[in-house]
Amino acid sequence: MAHKMAIIGYGGMAGYHHDMIQNNFPQLEISGVYDVREESVQKAQERGLKAFSAPDQIYADKEIELVLIATPNDVHKSYAIGCLQAGKHVICEKPVTLNAGELEDIIAAVKNSGKFFTVHQNRRWDRDFLMVKKIFEDKLLQDPYMIESRVQGSRQSLHGWRGWKQNGGGMVLDWGVHLMDQMLNFIPHKVVSVNAVLHKVFSPEVDDNFTASFRFENGLHYIVNIAMNCLIIQPRWHVSAYDGTAVIENWDCKGKIVKLTDAKTMEWAEDIVYTAAGPTRSMAPRPKETTQELELPHIEVTGRDYYQNIVDSLDGKTTPLVKPEQALRVMKLIDLVFLSDKEKHGIACNI
Ligand SMILES: NC(=O)c1ccc[n+]([C@@H]2O[C@H](COP(=O)([O-])OP(=O)(O)OC[C@H]3O[C@@H](n4cnc5c(N)ncnc54)[C@H](O)[C@@H]3O)[C@@H](O)[C@H]2O)c1
Repeated sequence: MAHKMAIIGYGGMAGYHHDMIQNNFPQLEISGVYDVREESVQKAQERGLKAFSAPDQIYADKEIELVLIATPNDVHKSYAIGCLQAGKHVICEKPVTLNAGELEDIIAAVKNSGKFFTVHQNRRWDRDFLMVKKIFEDKLLQDPYMIESRVQGSRQSLHGWRGWKQNGGGMVLDWGVHLMDQMLNFIPHKVVSVNAVLHKVFSPEVDDNFTASFRFENGLHYIVNIAMNCLIIQPRWHVSAYDGTAVIENWDCKGKIVKLTDAKTMEWAEDIVYTAAGPTRSMAPRPKETTQELELPHIEVTGRDYYQNIVDSLDGKTTPLVKPEQALRVMKLIDLVFLSDKEKHGIACNI
């Protein structure tokens, strides 16, 4: 028998979840949705879903095992606690909450519930991210010391509630949470400082462009940059390591690794070299034979891993891969991103 679930908040992202479940997971059955907006309720009904008239109806329905929360960010906490107290497993959209304190309240509710609480950090399964993770974990480059992770666009507007502070809008909580979750998912060290600059380039209330810089205890420097106002896009990933550099240009995963053939070959730069910008030794162009170009690692993705893990968890075979404690680490960093910007300096930490 299929596991019954309900959805709270049937907007753009809930439509994605609905498609994913309908097309791939007969083990899940969506019993119905609750939404405060008439248009969203109608959309759900047109797709054959029942509309609950209050969240309490979902809480009271003993057959519903799992609830997906896909509302704007400011109401994630209250629905999550309501669902857990009613004995439901919960998938919460990202960002899990507006800050670490709210998530701590949810974690307290999880402890008394015997149910799972997980966050839809689906970008842990992105191909570009898994390539960088593999480069790092398989040591395809030696001793990476700087990783730049950027998502840039030029839409110059934040869609709907994303522009409003009260709903938890802004890019730190939107794309930032994905990139920081990815970061903590493969760097096995603690973050010891956070320095961030947020901009409201066109949005009056919330950040629409930001750069956050994280220093890890092993010295690794990791930069997260989101731009909504960028007309010349930088690479999605740039990895600097002792013996080479990797670049992934975009979500199509075009890019390369360039490695030294012999890191000690320095004879070519003993004399001053004349470049278009004048004489230099330090920035002398490297002769081609001292480097080799490698392909990026091969990664296959299905797009179904997140929900496969949910189904396996409901079947008791495993537990959700995205853990509340992992989300809490990310939210603690997000709190410091906002604090660093407010105080206009870096913040030491041990996260
Ligand atoms: N994981 C991802 O890749 C990803 C992508 C997009 C959005 N999201 C997240 O999904 C969530 C929803 O985003 P969206 O783009 O679908 O927004 P949306 O505006 O398209 O949909 C939100 C829905 O929630 C409803 N809603 C608003 N307040 C409510 C309330 N108090 N109770 C019940 N329903 C309410 C709205 O009427 C709307 O139908 C957000 O947390 C967002 O950050 C995640």
